[in-house]
Amino acid sequence: MKAIIAKKYGPPEQLQLLDIPKPSPKPGEVLVKVIAAAVNDFDWGMVTGKPDIYRLIFGFLRPKREVIGIELSGLVEAVGDGVRTLAVGDAVYGDISRSTTGAFAEYCCVPAQALIKKPKSMSFEEAAALSHASMLAWQAMVKLGQIKRGDKVLINGAGGGVGTIGLQIAKQYEVEVTGVDTGSKLEMMKSLGFDHTIYYKQQDFTHNGQTYDLIIDAKTTRAPAAYLRSLAEGGRYVTVGGKISRLLQLVALKGFLGKKQNKRLKILALDQNKGLEQMHQLYEAKQLKLILDGPYPLEKTPWAIRYFGEGLHQGKVVIRVGEA
Ligand SMILES: NC(=O)c1ccc[n+]([C@@H]2O[C@H](COP(=O)([O-])OP(=O)(O)OC[C@H]3O[C@@H](n4cnc5c(N)ncnc54)[C@H](OP(=O)(O)O)[C@@H]3O)[C@@H](O)[C@H]2O)c1
Repeated sequence: MKAIIAKKYGPPEQLQLLDIPKPSPKPGEVLVKVIAAAVNDFDWGMVTGKPDIYRLIFGFLRPKREVIGIELSGLVEAVGDGVRTLAVGDAVYGDISRSTTGAFAEYCCVPAQALIKKPKSMSFEEAAALSHASMLAWQAMVKLGQIKRGDKVLINGAGGGVGTIGLQIAKQYEVEVTGVDTGSKLEMMKSLGFDHTIYYKQQDFTHNGQTYDLIIDAKTTRAPAAYLRSLAEGGRYVTVGGKISRLLQLVALKGFLGKKQNKRLKILALDQNKGLEQMHQLYEAKQLKLILDGPYPLEKTPWAIRYFGEGLHQGKVVIRVGEA
């Protein structure tokens, strides 16, 4: 089978499309014929090995897993011993970031519990783009952020996967949402429904005199004190990721800062695929529109990862791997 292989850390162009043996499912696993996969920040880190601290997770000298890609959709082709929840022919999808194999391959063996059944009305491309970003958005917005009706919400890094889905989750609560991102994405963000947009190079939202009840941050480039300044009394700031140095400051200070004004700083640890049923309900009620960039063919994956890493994408970059 064909797969995108990372034999060492480096620029995405060193990735190779190679023929490797088709895997067989172990007990508890299923073999999936991959139909679509999506590009994530995780892939950029795994391919480049940057920032260096990521090597503690991905492998010190070279990536531990050769086949990259953490989000997929496809068809179950075989099931291993003990699998009761899925059967051959099921259309499935999921975030497989805890598995040892990757999604940019024609076939992939994954623990059955890492996959859920795809709603019939959802395309394979949409499903591939849903699990990782939507769960970051939902868990940040609802579980940790405790969004409530009437909140004034800001999403920083709003034009990417988390922000475009986060907006649509937020709108279920009849809230006003401001999105911060790069200038070229603001039109798309307005058309999706952001009430206000800010180009981060033209205005620093932590210095614009506004305060918010809930801030969701996919970039985390500012100091914790700047986020506190932008929170209204009782406000919550939730980061899903960003600059390592800033995240470490948050880890160290979140327990102490803001208590007097009842402001909370929180860091999301993603619980893979937990809450996807809520996304199905939104999707089937036509209240969730997935912004897809692509699909691009499997052989263009190195290009697609560079395109993503350079921030030229809008929404989720999707790779078409096989035919349904
Ligand atoms: N918490 C967890 O357990 C966990 C697990 C996995 C991943 N993550 C994190 O989740 C995040 C994924 O977010 P995503 O998928 O939405 O990423 P994304 O698709 O790359 O979107 C991020 C957006 O932010 C924009 N941006 C860049 N610099 C900015 C700045 N200084 N201020 C405001 N916006 C800026 C980007 O624009 P350009 O494209 O122009 O750069 C892009 O549109 C990452 O931080 C990742 O590390 C967290």
